Amino acid sequence: TPHHSLLAALPKCEHHLHLEGCLSPSLTFQLATKNNITLPSPSSDAAYTSVETLTERYKNFSDLNDFLGYYYRALDAIITQDDFEMLGWEYFTTAAKDGVKHAEVFFDPQSHTARGIALGVVVSGFNAACKRAEKELDITSKLIMCFLRHLPVQESRDTMQAAVEEGYFDITTKGQDRTIAGVGLDSSEVGFRPELFGEMFMEAEKMGIRRTAHAGEEGDPTYISGALDTLHAERIDHGIRLVEDTKLMDRVIKENIMLTHVGELPIRKFLEEGVKFSLNSDDPAYFGGYILNNYCAVQNAFDLSVEEWKVIVQNSIQGSWCEQTRKDELL
Ligand code: ADE
Ligand code: ZN
Repeated sequence: TPHHSLLAALPKCEHHLHLEGCLSPSLTFQLATKNNITLPSPSSDAAYTSVETLTERYKNFSDLNDFLGYYYRALDAIITQDDFEMLGWEYFTTAAKDGVKHAEVFFDPQSHTARGIALGVVVSGFNAACKRAEKELDITSKLIMCFLRHLPVQESRDTMQAAVEEGYFDITTKGQDRTIAGVGLDSSEVGFRPELFGEMFMEAEKMGIRRTAHAGEEGDPTYISGALDTLHAERIDHGIRLVEDTKLMDRVIKENIMLTHVGELPIRKFLEEGVKFSLNSDDPAYFGGYILNNYCAVQNAFDLSVEEWKVIVQNSIQGSWCEQTRKDELL
C-alpha cells in the first residue's frame, strides 16, 4: 500500500500478542517432527494433511472456539525450553521488521502445564527470547501471564501461586532477571465471566502486579464492566463491543482505560469519541499477519490523517507498562 513505508517507520508498542499465536503451520509441523509428536491424523481432520491445508483451514474459522481448538492442538508440538525461546524469537524478529519498539506479550502457561511441561520451562524459554530481543533488536518487552478462563478457577490459582513462589514476576523476583509484569485473562469468553477471577486479581493487585483482561471480544459489554469492577483491569483486550454501551464508553474514557486490538469496525467511532486504543497483532499465525499488516489494513479502510496516526501511536506509548524513561525515548 502507498502508506506502507510511513506506517512501517512509526515507533510501535504492542500490547496484544499471544506468543503461542505466532506458531505457524510450518513451525507446527517442523517441531512435531523434531519432537516426535503426532498431530491429529488427516483421516480425523483433513486440515492436518499438509502445511498448505492447515494454512487454508486457518483462513476459515467460524468463531472464537473454532479458532481456539486449532490453537491449543498445535501447541502439542512445543516441548523444550529451546522451542519456547524459538517461538518467542520468531515473534521478536518479525516485530523488529515491523517497527515494534516495545512489546507486552501474552502467554498461556496452562496450555503447557496441562501437557506436563513445567512452568519454569515455559517462562525461562520466553524470558530468554525477551532478553535477547532487548540486546540484539532494541525491543524492550514485558510478559503477561494469561489464565485460561474456560478451565476451573482453581487451576488458575495454582498457576498463580507457582509463579509467585518460584519468583517469576518481576516484582517478586529472587534476584533473577525476570520479565513477567502482569496477568491477563483469555480463551473462550462467553459463559466464563470475569467475576470468577476477581479474588485472584485482587491478590495480584496487592502484590503490585499489572492486570488486563480479554473482554467484549464476543461477550456483551457487561464483560467489560465486570473486568473493570472486579479485576481492576488497567486495559481491556479487544473491547469491540464497548460501542454498544455509551455510558460505559464514557467511563472507559474517564478512567483512561486503553483498549487493545479493536479491529477495524469501531475505529472511526473510538477516534471521534476519544476512546484510547492500540492496534496489535493478536494471533498473527492464525489471523493473517503481524502488526504492520494491521496498521496497513486500518489505513486502507479509513484513510487516517497523519495527525490521527500520531494520536494512535502516542496513546499506545502512554498506555504501555514500560518505564517512563523508555516512553520518553519513544515519544
Ligand atoms: N487466546 C489466544 N488468542 C485469543 C483471543 N483472540 N481471544 C481469546 N483467547 C485467545
Ligand atoms: Zn487475544
